[in-house]
Amino acid sequence: MGQLTTRHLLGIKNINSDDIGLIFETADEFKTVINRPIKKVPSLRDITVANIFFENSTRTRISFELAQKRLSADVVNFSASGSSVSKGETLIDTVRNILAMKVDMVVMRHPVPGAHIFLAKHIDAQIINAGDGTHEHPTQGLLDAYSIREKLGGLEGKKVVIVGDIMHSRVALSNIFALQKTGAEVMVCGPATLIPKHIESLGVKVETNLLKALNWCDVANMLRIQLERQDIKYFPSLREYSMLYGLDLNLLNRLDKKITIMHPGPINRGVEITSDVADSEHSIILDQVENGVAIRMAVMYLLANN
Ligand code: CP
Repeated sequence: MGQLTTRHLLGIKNINSDDIGLIFETADEFKTVINRPIKKVPSLRDITVANIFFENSTRTRISFELAQKRLSADVVNFSASGSSVSKGETLIDTVRNILAMKVDMVVMRHPVPGAHIFLAKHIDAQIINAGDGTHEHPTQGLLDAYSIREKLGGLEGKKVVIVGDIMHSRVALSNIFALQKTGAEVMVCGPATLIPKHIESLGVKVETNLLKALNWCDVANMLRIQLERQDIKYFPSLREYSMLYGLDLNLLNRLDKKITIMHPGPINRGVEITSDVADSEHSIILDQVENGVAIRMAVMYLLANN
């Protein structure tokens, strides 16, 4: 078994293609484990993990907790709402207090980009970023790339378009890094107002016409419009957005090939994707969710063994 080159998982930008390959191979093993009648292994026995969420989550939070339980870790869960954060406690004080209870690993979601980097400099525990503001969501980037690898048999040379609110999406950035480091080509597509200036400097293609983007790609990853992070209007209305950038079966049927459809969730049905696509044979959305558990088991197992 190899070792990761990092002590924390703060972002995909900081890891290399060998790290990603090792995570995928380890996730392959864990995927067989979680499909067995007995789904539990003792790999993280005596390791205590704190899941600290300062932002809402359904998939990531449940997936991490399930992964920890499958690995026999001891788990504590913390939500900012209902905690002493509302009484003015700082991030470092909150986490130091949790660590004083002998926690080895922290999984944290936080609205501020870079909060994990700050924390990693100030505390001893291993840190996994479960999403920091508009910056990165590394385990989502890994599970998305892993799901494409599983569906298409590999990533080298595959063409992936990420559609929607690129500007406010941490999923977009982690996907770009993960896909490029595993040999895929990446395009971003959306309204010009939601595509960051200079994003081409990351080596991605940019397209504002959804039909052209879909004709180019093997896989389309449809993102949610992050209204909660938008302080101004970037497009006239959700209805107009949906007409230009929403994916429906009619549009898919206009392509002369079959493409794979992904979505990190949560889905706004009828905005970025219609139900007839989300629930169709083209979609691997629930495979992504299943793979999330195996990927998170692999990440925590490998970090704990570092
Ligand atoms: N994909 C994702 O991060 O979903 P949650 O916000 O529900 O965790």
